[in-house]
Amino acid sequence: MGKDVIIACDFDSAEKTFAFLDKFTGRKPFVKIGMELYYAEGPSIVREIKKRGHKIFLDLKLHDIPNTVKKSMAVLSRLDVDMTNLHAAGTIRMMEGALEGLTRPDGTRPLLIAVTQLTSTDQESMEKDLLIEKPIADVVMHYAHNAKVAGLDGVVCSPLEAGKVHDTCGEKFLTVTPGVRFADGDIGDQKRVMTPAEAKKIGSDYIVVGRPITAAEDPVAAYERCVREFCD
Ligand code: C5P
Repeated sequence: MGKDVIIACDFDSAEKTFAFLDKFTGRKPFVKIGMELYYAEGPSIVREIKKRGHKIFLDLKLHDIPNTVKKSMAVLSRLDVDMTNLHAAGTIRMMEGALEGLTRPDGTRPLLIAVTQLTSTDQESMEKDLLIEKPIADVVMHYAHNAKVAGLDGVVCSPLEAGKVHDTCGEKFLTVTPGVRFADGDIGDQKRVMTPAEAKKIGSDYIVVGRPITAAEDPVAAYERCVREFCD
């Protein structure tokens, strides 16, 4: 388990997604399907990508009352994805419900990962908008700890937080980290970034890479570079 590169397929149609995936004639990458693509195409996009032999991280970030999340996760478990997620802010009880719903009758289930505080939330917006007055690093670690207590497999976090999450929640607790850029690449709108090699060194289990691969002139070469830097 772990140490893989997940490509964020942030496209708004099946057509664009398949045109992109068709380039990968050798190794089939692990892909992330987010809200944009899922809401555009519905569950059929998940089934079709799965049929092509890809592992899938379904990034829908559920957050609702425990009963609703439990029943929605039961539906998602039937899509046969490999990883999915929710907001830790929904409480330990919501996360426990999610885990229960996600577990199939045969006892298997996709990996379940929690979002702690979104990386778009900073100290100021957390204090002003959410009335949470603790240091954001402590809030992130507390939410990660809650996810562990609820029985989840790990968290989505910045690669800069991955080492601390492992110190707090154990080496086996997975860290899935976006915000990855090549040393010689554009950082775009991401603020705190790491290279794949740095993310490996700090102990990320999975890196989520979007535009450095999807917008590259040669996406397959960019993907292979990520794999070389992160996995080998
Ligand atoms: O293109 P880029 O590499 O920035 O894509 C990163 C992906 O990870 C996007 O799908 C983005 O929504 C997602 N993500 C993120 N930061 C988070 C959580 C998810 O960049 N904290």
